[in-house]
Amino acid sequence: MEKLVIHGGNRLCGEVEISGAKNAAVAIIPATLLAQDVCRIENIPNISDVTCMIRILNQMGAQVKYINKHTLEINTKTVNSYIIPHEMTKQLRASYYLIGALLGRYCRAKVALPGGCNFGVRPIDLHIRGFELLGAKTTVENAMINASADHLTGSAIYMDKVSVGATINIMLAAVKARGLTIIENAAKEPHIVDLANFLNAMGADVRGAGTDVIKIRGVSQMHGCTYSIIPDQIEAGTYMVAAAATAGDVLVKNVIPKHLESITAKLIEAGCTITEYDDAVRVQSDGNFKKFNIKTMPHPGFPTDMQPQMATLLTVAKGTSIVSEGVWDNRFKYIDQFIRMGANVQVDGTIAVFEGVQELTGAPVRADDLRAGAAMIIAGLMARGTTEIEDIIYIDRGYENFVEKFRELGADIYRKEFDDNDRKTVSAG
Ligand code: UD1
Repeated sequence: MEKLVIHGGNRLCGEVEISGAKNAAVAIIPATLLAQDVCRIENIPNISDVTCMIRILNQMGAQVKYINKHTLEINTKTVNSYIIPHEMTKQLRASYYLIGALLGRYCRAKVALPGGCNFGVRPIDLHIRGFELLGAKTTVENAMINASADHLTGSAIYMDKVSVGATINIMLAAVKARGLTIIENAAKEPHIVDLANFLNAMGADVRGAGTDVIKIRGVSQMHGCTYSIIPDQIEAGTYMVAAAATAGDVLVKNVIPKHLESITAKLIEAGCTITEYDDAVRVQSDGNFKKFNIKTMPHPGFPTDMQPQMATLLTVAKGTSIVSEGVWDNRFKYIDQFIRMGANVQVDGTIAVFEGVQELTGAPVRADDLRAGAAMIIAGLMARGTTEIEDIIYIDRGYENFVEKFRELGADIYRKEFDDNDRKTVSAG
């Protein structure tokens, strides 16, 4: 297996190109099942979550081929199964989108409960309730979700809690249901809008995505299309924070600046200079940070998936800063790794209190999950000395070519083979 080695202290300077959005790609790829036709998807990120999703579609009988490095052609005419066993779902949380997509296509789905990221219990009760309101009977047996209906019927669905996954799954199931589905208190993340645009390009009738209320009028037929995925908001935010953390000067290219507003606002509060262009943002920093607080919330609030990365700045920001996690119950596991690097942080439930220290010191740490792993990279880049990060398999799930991209910006970072017996941290898995 591999770990990352980072010699900290280099300023990041130059330009970095952001890839397509992971969370849009893992919804749009299964959504192609609804077309029973050929779809061409551009701006596909080259990350292991996407590879996993493609493998699942292949195993279901779809014909999937790369036209070029970032363009996929998916023919779902040849799919002949609505059963997805555990071996296929265990590495990928987003495999649960197959339930919605298969229900939409066949009115039947038998999908093993998903695997994926490592930050606490992740229920899917809201997804199941949505399917049931559309008329599906659902049972869970031997960790398989079994959902079926003679036909699905549009329904009014009020979400007790804002859920990205449930909003997407209900959209997938509802696009071919008979009549009108109204999702109230829907999630508004950029990838919800991207999925809606993709579904509409395939002939669906989805309106209101990006607001609290999404209206879906069922259609009987959908068709193939060509579609380009939006840039990854979180990958962009990660490079923006890395630039700030290293007193750098980086132009982050191929982004939608509007999607980055909550991240930009925090960096400005910390004392960085941000310049916005049509499809790029430039981050300049002198490496001195004022204290600031973070409260994560559903979009357009500060994204929970940027919480660990942004928190790296708080480890050295002058004074006391507070992070309040408003989406997940257990997203501070990674703080132990910061403490190994000399940070002064106290965690109490969903609140973390940071007392800024002079500097971080390189240490052996691990990636507890995808975004925690990204935070460890940023911490390693700003620390004095050498940081080694274990369990980087999590980082490969969501960051395309990140070693090359960071090296291009001037980071001293590389992958190194190592034997599990030589671990210096307890496994995150
Ligand atoms: C998605 C993202 C993930 C991000 C999260 C919040 C993908 C593939 N993943 O995850 O990176 O951190 O949004 O922005 O897009 N909940 C329930 N019942 C449910 C579903 C969710 O109680 O049926 C709760 C969760 O426990 C959590 C909150 O709702 O506390 C939000 O979860 P949700 O928005 O569904 O996250 P995911 O879609 O799993």
